[in-house]
Amino acid sequence: MPSNWLSNISTVLLQGFAPHYDDVEVFILQLEGRKRWRLYEPRNKQEELPRYSSPNFDPSEIGQPCLDVILEAGDLLYFPRGTIHQGHCLEEAHSMHITISCHQLNTYGDLLEHALPAALRTAMSEDVSFRRGLPRDYLSYCGEALRPEDVSYKSKRREAFLEEVKKLAAKVFDYADVDRGKLILFSLY
Ligand SMILES: [Fe+2]
Repeated sequence: MPSNWLSNISTVLLQGFAPHYDDVEVFILQLEGRKRWRLYEPRNKQEELPRYSSPNFDPSEIGQPCLDVILEAGDLLYFPRGTIHQGHCLEEAHSMHITISCHQLNTYGDLLEHALPAALRTAMSEDVSFRRGLPRDYLSYCGEALRPEDVSYKSKRREAFLEEVKKLAAKVFDYADVDRGKLILFSLY
């Protein structure tokens, strides 16, 4: 079980809550009573497996549910990060469930976010090719001021420069301590 799991028990006094998605994978175990859950697909690619939770949505923003189910005592419902969900208490039944969540900021990207800067620092201290100065004229064929229609945008010098940058970027990984990156990631929780 990842270190960032958390749980809560809710005896819901409210009728329900507005639809939204969370930044965690969710397991809901119905302990007592019954509760209705409606799940909706992510609205677009950017909201698949999101890093952060959403605000509340208006029903007009989320389309039709992909699952509309009533959980009974003993039922388990799982949904991935980014699944829009809405719980609704039924008038005739009380409800108690436990929620277990995991994978909050615990992705490949988060691991690399911690491992790569350290790898670059190690590469710079151990490999002279990372410490060489940039070409004196590189701003004539690289930079924000350059436009795709400029002649130098398609120049051989720019091509060679980008190749060198790519080569060094690929080499950074040789210095990555993935285990240490994971260690830092875990220590944040
Ligand atoms: Fe939620």
